[in-house]
Amino acid sequence: MNSIKQYLTSSIGKKVVMACTGLFLCVFLLEHIYGNILLYAGDDGAAFNEYSHSASHNIIIRIVEFVLFGSIIAHVFQAVIITKDNAKARPIKYAVSTSTEGSSWFSRNMGITGSIILFFIVIHLYNFFLPYRITEMPNGATLAIITKAAFQNVYYVLIYCVGVTFLFFHLLHGFRSAFHTLGMNNKKYTPLWKAVGTGFALLMWLGFISFPILFYFNLAGNNIPSI
Ligand code: HEM
Repeated sequence: MNSIKQYLTSSIGKKVVMACTGLFLCVFLLEHIYGNILLYAGDDGAAFNEYSHSASHNIIIRIVEFVLFGSIIAHVFQAVIITKDNAKARPIKYAVSTSTEGSSWFSRNMGITGSIILFFIVIHLYNFFLPYRITEMPNGATLAIITKAAFQNVYYVLIYCVGVTFLFFHLLHGFRSAFHTLGMNNKKYTPLWKAVGTGFALLMWLGFISFPILFYFNLAGNNIPSI
């Protein structure tokens, strides 16, 4: 037990927790985007509602959900610790900084992109998870109906677009960095993780940003009733 604690609080242990929770969150993004794509089924939201209903009543999915919440908490907790450790390691900023050479803005600011994603996740949970799973849905509304209503609110659409754009920047560095942390970095694999990571980040960005945009401009979801 003590050796597990020792490992998890070591600098490599903290990085490995970050990498594993980050990659688990990437798997969740795939599941989430699959569910959202059902909004394009051209029906009245039945396929999307059915999927959300069965997911929330499936014991395996419920367990995965707990692991997911645990992963977000662990990822954010370790992010704060790693950021603090990094600040402690270099308390005085150099007059002329050379540390940015060869690194991108988003690789140096994972804490900033992560904090914006966290803000977005809280708003997202408040809008959908809270009424659907904990409090109450508006009278007669289904999940597809409240999703359509949210995507017709210009402020929500803007927040959603900004949130998924910062997710893109986070993944652009995070995906390949996780494989690096897990030791899968060499001449052969590094370019592969870089290419797969860029493709994954781009796919998630295009996929997720399509929902608010197509719904806002009435290019999708026309068969779903409005509130
Ligand atoms: C869906 C949401 C998220 C996904 C898919 C994700 C994914 C990842 C991945 C794959 C990494 C790379 C880990 C590594 O370098 O080994 C990472 C790193 C990081 N994430 Fe996230 N993340 C998410 C949300 C967040 C949130 C909400 C925060 C909150 C502050 C955050 C903060 C960070 C930080 C600071 C790092 C860099 C840690 C370091 O320097 O090693 N992330 N993330």
